[in-house]
Amino acid sequence: MSDEHGNELRAHWNERYRSGHTPWDTGITPPEVQRFWKKRKPPFAGAYALDIGCGTGLNTLFLARQGLNAIGVDLAGQALSRARKRLLASRQEDPGLPVGGAAFVQADVGLLPVGELGAVYALDIGCLHSLPDGNRPGYAEGVLRALGAQGFFHLYAFDREASEGPGARGMNEGEVAALFGREMQIVAEEIGTPTSHNARRSRWYLLQMR
Ligand SMILES: C[S@@+](CC[C@H](N)C(=O)[O-])C[C@H]1O[C@@H](n2cnc3c(N)ncnc32)[C@H](O)[C@@H]1O
Repeated sequence: MSDEHGNELRAHWNERYRSGHTPWDTGITPPEVQRFWKKRKPPFAGAYALDIGCGTGLNTLFLARQGLNAIGVDLAGQALSRARKRLLASRQEDPGLPVGGAAFVQADVGLLPVGELGAVYALDIGCLHSLPDGNRPGYAEGVLRALGAQGFFHLYAFDREASEGPGARGMNEGEVAALFGREMQIVAEEIGTPTSHNARRSRWYLLQMR
């Protein structure tokens, strides 16, 4: 991505947070993510997890509460400063809470800065589907590099519609398999539940490293 385009995207997302036009910021970790971790807790304690396009960090902290070392990555400084405040507040409110590590990194997820993390889980709620098409292969490479053997990738994305611009473009049919299928298998795919703030057709994908 050119610097100019990167700056434009950053400005777009920062403005969404500044203006409060953030309908995704519901304050609730989606039930799909909660159910996944309810089934799988103790063996993963202390391992790494990624929250890609973490926004204000609610789900990063959810992962940390499972005992994971959770790293949230986002482009928007506006979102990350709220995420860091959320982390501080959660430690102050309940110091006894079983929280793994949580850290927030400002970066473009088209070039994930974490390398071979051996992560057990990567979560993306609404980030990949907003990336320009040309940045998606680089994103996929970064996720594949970051995950360890048998690691999971949990993705929430809109189906593709004709909309353009820096918002949510959506994913084409077969695109998830094309981006990740050589190294991961799709173990579950379900239609997302429409909500009052979002009527677009969407899906939850759960992939696992082969
Ligand atoms: C729809 S919001 C979802 C935020 C969060 N996952 C949640 O569920 O609250 C999409 C997030 O992706 C971030 N984002 C979009 N493009 C990005 C990029 N290229 N690199 C890093 N973050 C990006 C935005 O700043 C925004 O916080």
